[in-house]
Amino acid sequence: IMDIKIVKDKVAGGQAAFAIIQQGIATGAKVLGLATGSTPITLYQEMIKSDLDFRQLTSVNLDEYVGLPYDNPQSYHQFMQDNLFSKKPFKHSYVPEGMAADIDQAAKDYDKIIEANPIDIQILGIGRNGHIGFNEPGTPFDELTHEVRLTESTIEANKRFFADEKDVPRKAISMGIGSIMKSKQIILMAYGSDKADAIQATIEGPVTTHVPASVLQNHANATIIIDEAAASKLT
Ligand code: F6R
Repeated sequence: IMDIKIVKDKVAGGQAAFAIIQQGIATGAKVLGLATGSTPITLYQEMIKSDLDFRQLTSVNLDEYVGLPYDNPQSYHQFMQDNLFSKKPFKHSYVPEGMAADIDQAAKDYDKIIEANPIDIQILGIGRNGHIGFNEPGTPFDELTHEVRLTESTIEANKRFFADEKDVPRKAISMGIGSIMKSKQIILMAYGSDKADAIQATIEGPVTTHVPASVLQNHANATIIIDEAAASKLT
């Protein structure tokens, strides 16, 4: 079941997502699943300016680059520090350990962390190819946390953040679609016309691994928050 909310712009989208989180915390949510990228920033701004205290909550992030030091401005550890945690600390914040010597072991350890801290509300963005987390088209729906090789389209989309295309990491560690689907509630946000095709396929297309986010049609409590541009291809 997907609840679709069309909002005016990303500021209104951040407010709508924040209202769901606020309600969730008021009714006992203890673990938030968080994302990076441009999409959740307006939500994080709402969280920062609110009087909510997150120091009793745990956060679990979706993904991290492999081999990018955590103090690199493009690392997701640093992104979360800059955009949320430095202003609103949590009791504990987990981000996948992309600098671990053994990434497969780090992935297994991350699944144990998620098992011990079941995610009440997971925040998601969506890639232009329908990816969620770093789960690119073709990823099996039952996969848990794992190492991924980024597709050319994702490397291309991310290169604007790096001085040179060759500096863009080629691998990441990501929660799998199986890990994401265990969350009790999911909020996927998307803004702008370059997300319109992915949103149309996610909401109106068949449930298929070719469009990873389409799996949310099978989730019991998923909300899709989109602006008018991202909604423009819905029939
Ligand atoms: C980030 C993540 C990615 C992004 C997606 C959209 O943690 O998991 O799936 O949500 O690539 O990125 P933006 O929001 O920058 O368009």
